[in-house]
Amino acid sequence: MKHLLALCLAGLIPATAAIAQDVNGRETYLENCAGCHGEVALGDGPLAALISVEMPDLTVLSRRYGGIFPLVDVVRQIDGRVEMRGHGGPMPVFGAMLGGASAVIDTAAGDPVVTKAAVLAVADYLESLQR
Ligand code: HEC
Repeated sequence: MKHLLALCLAGLIPATAAIAQDVNGRETYLENCAGCHGEVALGDGPLAALISVEMPDLTVLSRRYGGIFPLVDVVRQIDGRVEMRGHGGPMPVFGAMLGGASAVIDTAAGDPVVTKAAVLAVADYLESLQR
């Protein structure tokens, strides 16, 4: 344990909090999502043509929700708590795939929603793409 702490301090093993902060939303998105949703989330990824479910434009989510990015809904859609055909049905595909450290966000009512830091990072990245 002492050794592990020393390695963390030496920067050889990043501490959990550091991992959470270092999750790059854009890179995680490009790796896991762009194939279907497209590089800037317009719904034009190379796999979109092969899937029978229509690929949504993820840059208009705020517009659809009255100008407010629906962060909690998006997190639930990514981590699989909201069932989507394109995401593999009832199985939470990306929740497991995006593993790593956990993160907590609050609903509008103030209820805590636990998810993965990587899921939150991707959701934040999607928020930055809203037009
Ligand atoms: C295999 C293709 C595919 C991949 C990979 C994929 N998606 Fe999707 N996604 C879809 C499809 C198709 C839908 C449309 C809804 C459905 O499935 O019924 C969708 C819906 C969504 C929605 C809801 C959009 C809306 O209109 O409300 C969000 C948010 C989303 N995806 C985010 C992501 C993120 C983030 C990733 C990567 C972690 C990802 N998706 C990976 C195919 C994919």
